[in-house]
Amino acid sequence: MEPTLDFIETLVRQAGDILRAGFGQRYAVTYKSVIDPVTEIDKRTEAFLLGEIRQHFPKHKIISEESGDTGGEGSFTWYVDPLDGTVNYTHGMPIYSVTVAFAKEGEILLGAVYDPTRDECFSAEKGRGARLNDEPIQVSEISDLDHSLLVTGFPYDIRINPDNNLNHFANFTLRTQAVRRLGSAALDLCYVAAGRFDGFWEIRLSPWDVAAGGLIAQEAGAIVTDLYGNPDFLSTPQSILAANPLIHSLMLRVLSNRT
Ligand code: IPD
Ligand code: CA
Ligand code: CA
Repeated sequence: MEPTLDFIETLVRQAGDILRAGFGQRYAVTYKSVIDPVTEIDKRTEAFLLGEIRQHFPKHKIISEESGDTGGEGSFTWYVDPLDGTVNYTHGMPIYSVTVAFAKEGEILLGAVYDPTRDECFSAEKGRGARLNDEPIQVSEISDLDHSLLVTGFPYDIRINPDNNLNHFANFTLRTQAVRRLGSAALDLCYVAAGRFDGFWEIRLSPWDVAAGGLIAQEAGAIVTDLYGNPDFLSTPQSILAANPLIHSLMLRVLSNRT
């Protein structure tokens, strides 16, 4: 049996209720590395999501941030990030989301990203377009970098790995209207889908960060590739570039240092 998009939208909205209730409250925080926190709320929300998915689809494989690869066999895989934007969350910055995607034989078919603060649910079904709270969304029509608003993020190993995205950040900052860093890759992708940003790139994300948002961006008309223009943006070594079709190739040129 396969899920419906309605099922996934309900799931992320319910998970979002848990995140909203915990926001600004006291909760335990531990650290995966000096700058990479995980909260009790991440774990509580993930336990809820995994419990629901297992109850309805006990044979499906689930890949989630806090539990890793959990069981399952066959061709159905779920990607779950219960809280995308944990650093923001722990600082009381209201920019975070929950993201869930469903794939069959490696192809992402359904995805939803929910922003509890703004009550915005972005979602998409392969081949059927993308929507925001049931209204169709489209990428922007900005066609040059000078007028583009971009967004990016940085990997948690930024202090120890010289391949840290600061070079691309500097290059784009000098060539575009502006570059933002919001702190939730899933929302970054949805904002490209909704035309709020014209393009997004990042390196060394994980499949649960980009599976739903990547589909939503594609279904809204974005071209989504890795940083070299290849269509696979899930596999290791992971990187992602999502942009409206008018600036995707312009961004690829900057990323390859050809401009
Ligand atoms: C992080 C966010 C952030 C991105 C990091 C991710 P997390 O996810 O998406 O925007 O720059 O690379 O790891 O840790 O908040 O789930
Ligand atoms: Ca994440
Ligand atoms: Ca997370």
